[in-house]
Amino acid sequence: MDHFAYRDGHLFAEDVAVSEIANAVGTPFYCYSRATLCRHYDVFAAAFEGHDALVAYAVKANSSVAVIRALARRGAGAALVSGGELRRALAAGVAGSRMVFSGVGKTREEMGLALDAGILQFNVESEPELRALSEVATARGVEAPVAIRINPDVDAKVHRKITTGLRENKFGIEWTAAPEIYARAAALPGLKVVGMSVHIGSQLLDLEPFRQAFAKMRDMVFRLRADGHRIDIVDVGGGLGIPYDDLPSPAPEAYARTVLDALGDLGCRLVLEPGRMIAGNAGILVARLLYRKEGAVRTFYVVDAAMNDLLRPSLYDAYHHILPCRRPAPGVGNIEVDVVGPVCETGDTLARQRNLPPMAEGELLAVRTAGAYCAVMASAYNSRPLVPEVLVSGDRWHLARRRLTAVDLLDLESVPDWPDGDDRA
Ligand code: LLP
Repeated sequence: MDHFAYRDGHLFAEDVAVSEIANAVGTPFYCYSRATLCRHYDVFAAAFEGHDALVAYAVKANSSVAVIRALARRGAGAALVSGGELRRALAAGVAGSRMVFSGVGKTREEMGLALDAGILQFNVESEPELRALSEVATARGVEAPVAIRINPDVDAKVHRKITTGLRENKFGIEWTAAPEIYARAAALPGLKVVGMSVHIGSQLLDLEPFRQAFAKMRDMVFRLRADGHRIDIVDVGGGLGIPYDDLPSPAPEAYARTVLDALGDLGCRLVLEPGRMIAGNAGILVARLLYRKEGAVRTFYVVDAAMNDLLRPSLYDAYHHILPCRRPAPGVGNIEVDVVGPVCETGDTLARQRNLPPMAEGELLAVRTAGAYCAVMASAYNSRPLVPEVLVSGDRWHLARRRLTAVDLLDLESVPDWPDGDDRA
């Protein structure tokens, strides 16, 4: 359930007309609904009520500080994959003790930042990383809380670019090698083994791969405890899928049962890292129709948002619903269009052969389910500056990030002032 709906024929975000925001900040822009974010968080957290569970929102899905803050106020922790995300989570008021840090390429600088913040757990993904963390922690005279991220070799059955739990993927440590790695971790100075983590992929619509991965985790916890390790925290990662089209997706309660059936009785604190499930349907991308172009065999709606603003269709062939912000009059038939952006690539197609009402130039459209992995994946390709992010709450809205300008981009650059003739042509 989300809070984007038509009122008197106009699309609203909670109690604010989307067109009102467009008039104030221009287009394109991202619009997030605070009530939707909080509802998703509450439903997810409620599914684990009565258990020692930390819901660490995966900041990578939507790292707007205003979004993280809204969730942190609700009780969310943060699941991080970079020092930049760590700084954002701190700026949003998340306590270090409610943060976990994954990723195969943590730098020593990032490790230092995370140790200074007193994070709950590093999810370590390789033996060299273990040694680096040991050195960084020892140099600081502290102990780094460590979980090993296990790669359970389970096929999540999702798009190949977002599956992470297969043995050929770069993530985690092959699960059969875990006992050996735990023994090494226990022997290194500056490390304190506290738990185990896993994350098998994203946008899972089937719970079975989770079941398989968690069963392997469970067995491994017993094995490691028998070896004398303390496993107090079990971090099951994120991955719960959401409906982009109208296909059903598993309810948080069913997902929670899958987690708890496998891992609920181990006496461990559970860490959950949902990202998409919290933020996905809490956001839209609003764009304006620039031109209606009749091609040789297709009609194109050329809009002012492009693949640099919303990469998922180009990168993953992802489907996003698109709505006109003004509902057509009853009886008006749809036409089939491709919704494309101004970027000079055929891949810059937001939607292909979509049924939309006839629209006039200047009208607004909304791309749905754009709260997760959209603004965060934007680039300035074609020198198109990043677009604003707006957070709505009830009848209020707030510009959470202003629009960058071409001048902002140019200000980052300079040309060499080498004397003429020194161009080494
Ligand atoms: N934890 C870890 C360690 C992760 O790598 C991820 C996502 C999550 C948690 C959150 O997963 P979620 O609950 O959001 O599925 N850009 C892609 C998605 C990449 C996800 C990467 N990892 C997309 O647009 O579909």
